[in-house]
Amino acid sequence: MMFNEEYFDEGLYRMGTRSEKWDACRKEYGENVLPMWVADMDFPSPPAVQEAILARAAHPTYCYTEIMEDDDQALIDFWQRRHGLTIAREDITMIPCVVTGLRLAILALTQPGDGVIIQSPVYGPFRMSVEGTERKVMDAPLVRRENGSYDMDLAAVEEQLKAGAKLMLLCNPQNPVSRVWTAEELQALLNLLNRYNVPLVSDEIHADFVFAPKKFVPVLTLQQKNVISLCAASKTFNLAGLQQAEAICKDEGIREAFRYEMDKAGVRSGNIFALEATRAAYNEGDAWLDGLIGYLQGSYALLADLVKQHLPKAVLTPMEGTYLGWLDLRAYGYTTEELMQRTEKAGVYFTVGTFFGQIGEGHLRINIGCPRRYIEEGVLRLRVALENGDEE
Ligand SMILES: Cc1ncc(COP(=O)(O)O)c(C=O)c1O
Repeated sequence: MMFNEEYFDEGLYRMGTRSEKWDACRKEYGENVLPMWVADMDFPSPPAVQEAILARAAHPTYCYTEIMEDDDQALIDFWQRRHGLTIAREDITMIPCVVTGLRLAILALTQPGDGVIIQSPVYGPFRMSVEGTERKVMDAPLVRRENGSYDMDLAAVEEQLKAGAKLMLLCNPQNPVSRVWTAEELQALLNLLNRYNVPLVSDEIHADFVFAPKKFVPVLTLQQKNVISLCAASKTFNLAGLQQAEAICKDEGIREAFRYEMDKAGVRSGNIFALEATRAAYNEGDAWLDGLIGYLQGSYALLADLVKQHLPKAVLTPMEGTYLGWLDLRAYGYTTEELMQRTEKAGVYFTVGTFFGQIGEGHLRINIGCPRRYIEEGVLRLRVALENGDEE
């Protein structure tokens, strides 16, 4: 099968599949709303995934599972092949999802009341995981350049370290600002954290969506001590409903502490279909993934053109990876609440900017993991939302 433009242009009808993105959105906002929010894609998973699930489903028992060597090996081979990271079997802890991993890492590495550094704007559950475990959010916001691109603010990180932060959560590549952190940037951050002996949790769920010439750098290729990385096939291959992710850790002390919290919470992984699907995706999904990345890169170019043409006052943050565009609409002068009301009325639903922190006021995040005709339609609806007066 060819995973070319026509393949991804075709997309698929998702209503009636218990899709959060489609079914939940249309239930709330009406049957014509175009959902461009939660981070999954309107494409089929690689054919090998469906074949593996169907083959396993044909056997009529769905009992307790055992994670086998070939499950781990598929992940090991994929990360070696695609990212040059060498993982040993013992480094891997399977978990139900990355957000579970964020929470377990916080519980394992800090005490109630401790400060945890995040860099807003960042994926909302970073903040929620810190607050939900009764730790304290210590924000070291990213800094925005003139063109809408973002950098780390190491001085702000150091301030929080001096103020006693005990852990840092990094999003690499970054959701929502689509930065793919370079080796130099990551090394500078690690050097700083090392001076204060503070561990790093690196959420690398978006690792596979990177646009050339940018290259994803796994934090574990730079440092093994005091680092835990969280990854999954779920974003990459559109498997989030199967609930499987991995914590990769080469630091035995941290790994043991993480597994202790996992046992204590009764968290167990090994969903029967997730194991089949993940193994198939990692072993047989490369051609599909290469096709997808090429398609997304073209979709980003299309989005940038459409924004220039139809939303002249908007700033689209340059995208280095992910399928999530960060749109600064502050020049239109609406509050976030007004933006959401206006877009709802115009029949399109984006992720509200403040999901990523207060710094996201006046922003929306657009999901371009969809056929390009949706992107065209979504931007046109956004234009209507922004231009329509308050006539009634
Ligand atoms: C940075 C980041 N981490 C974690 C997740 C969620 O992962 P999971 O479903 O495995 O908890 C997302 C989903 O959008 C994400 O963008």
